[in-house]
Amino acid sequence: MSEICTIANQKGGVGKSTTCACLSAALAEIGKRILAVDLDPQGGLTTSLGFDPDSFQNTAYNVLINSNESPVRTAIIETEIPNLFLLPSNLDLAGAEGELIGEIGWDKTLKDALFPIAQDYDSIFIDCPPSLGILTTNGLMAAQTVIIPVQSEYLALKGLKELNRVISKIRKKGNPDLKIRILRTMHDARSSHTKEVIEELEKIFGDQVYQSVIKRTIKFADSALAGKPIILYAKSSEGAEAYRQLTQEVLKDEQ
Ligand SMILES: Nc1ncnc2c1ncn2[C@@H]1O[C@H](COP(=O)(O)OP(=O)(O)O)[C@@H](O)[C@H]1O
Ligand SMILES: [Mg+2]
Repeated sequence: MSEICTIANQKGGVGKSTTCACLSAALAEIGKRILAVDLDPQGGLTTSLGFDPDSFQNTAYNVLINSNESPVRTAIIETEIPNLFLLPSNLDLAGAEGELIGEIGWDKTLKDALFPIAQDYDSIFIDCPPSLGILTTNGLMAAQTVIIPVQSEYLALKGLKELNRVISKIRKKGNPDLKIRILRTMHDARSSHTKEVIEELEKIFGDQVYQSVIKRTIKFADSALAGKPIILYAKSSEGAEAYRQLTQEVLKDEQ
């Protein structure tokens, strides 16, 4: 069975989609077969892997709403990166929340949909929208690990309490072994708040915080514009190397 990892944080712009794309690309680069799942109606992951979300008819939406008629295999596409596959999304997915909520077992819809293909991949990475609604809950229910990107800045910790509360609920409601990992992103050593936030994170989350730190650099925005993960766009940049290093921690965790 593959390892399923969900990237979540209800705050937008913290590096969820970037982390999902970079981890997926870095693992594919070392020969792992990877599925990246876009669970955000904004299609940030789909875009950062070089696709136009509007160009797809068959997306994560169809898989969630009608997995019998639309098996997940038909919606998955190849990317330009060997070994990396994508379940794309677009604005259609915005309708899924309302449609799922009436269903029995709505929170395990994604988990069930991924089940038939889980053995086809070494790892699956799920990119969540910036909210704690139906879609993120489905992402958390399906995963063994939740990676929470946190900006090392003032106020970044505020939302974590709420997220922690949701994760506790998820553990009680059917995913008791869900592991938490904190990833420090957009790290700016010059900012006066950084040290405080880092110390606070280590105090609260201890060894659940990854050693690897992703620094703030303009190269990420450049690579996003180019529709390529930094792993490909600036192969030997510091950002690419940081995500490769993180990959080693992720792999070690899986053992
Ligand atoms: N380490 C980083 N340094 C600088 N910019 C970054 C970094 N990581 C991501 N970005 C940029 O920040 C923006 C938001 O990142 P994104 O991954 O889309 O966040 P989210 O998915 O949480 O909304 C994007 O333009 C992205 O290119
Ligand atoms: Mg995003």
